[in-house]
Amino acid sequence: MSQPPPGVDPNTPNVARMYDYYLGGKDNFAADRAAAEQMASLFPDVRAAALENRAFLARTVHCLAEAGIRQIVDIGSGLPTQGNVHEIAHRVAPDCKVVYVDYDPVVVAHGQALLSRGENVEVVMGDFRQPDDLLAKVGQEIDFDRPVAFLLFALLHFVHEADKPYEIVAQMRDLSAPGSYLALTHAAPAIPDVSEAALEIYKKATAALALREYEEILPFFDGYELLDPGLVAPRDWRPDADTYLPDTHASVGFGGVGRKL
Ligand SMILES: C[S@@+](CC[C@H](N)C(=O)[O-])C[C@H]1O[C@@H](n2cnc3c(N)ncnc32)[C@H](O)[C@@H]1O
Repeated sequence: MSQPPPGVDPNTPNVARMYDYYLGGKDNFAADRAAAEQMASLFPDVRAAALENRAFLARTVHCLAEAGIRQIVDIGSGLPTQGNVHEIAHRVAPDCKVVYVDYDPVVVAHGQALLSRGENVEVVMGDFRQPDDLLAKVGQEIDFDRPVAFLLFALLHFVHEADKPYEIVAQMRDLSAPGSYLALTHAAPAIPDVSEAALEIYKKATAALALREYEEILPFFDGYELLDPGLVAPRDWRPDADTYLPDTHASVGFGGVGRKL
């Protein structure tokens, strides 16, 4: 982006735009690129980790659509990129409704401009930390009496304990019909030096990191049965030829897909 839209601060690194840069996107400003490059200098695999996150997202959405899911809510959806959720879902099931939710006005504006062209796609502004408001908006598009999949990819590591992430995930579970799903990825403090430095970089960005260990990520799936192979490095979740990235060992967190019990 050359010019920031009105009301957008281009000088504070923005977590959605830094991630867009990792993925090779163009929707970012100099401050986003500088912070992302600082991360890449510490941890050269950060781009590969982002791509692996997206590859796992693609396998998840394909799997959910094949399992009969026809409603998907993607919270913290990020800037539109290659292989958006609705594109993957609609290859299997054109009638699958996809609702993208993000709290970032640039993400929402881009999403509404680029994604809402087709049928069965909505982009709404919502903050995960304000679940009543978010679920009321989403409820205008999604029938919670039918199975729904909540996607929380690379989101919960921006949600700190004070904002009660476990309670909010449980609230979404309790609202969901039997046969619903939760799928997520979450960064972990895998490499101590890198984690410390990453925390510092993200403290100066629009959202600070809340890294969690495996044992802290697993309870998000309370009330769900994890599909095989469980909560694993995203690259190890049902790898396939289409989405496998050879020669990287980039996972710095965990991902899983659970079916509501
Ligand atoms: C790293 S991106 C992940 C994008 C996408 N989910 C993926 O995994 O490819 C994180 C996204 O979460 C959004 N986000 C962070 N905190 C949020 C919150 N409290 N509510 C809604 N969105 C949030 C950011 O704006 C950003 O777009």
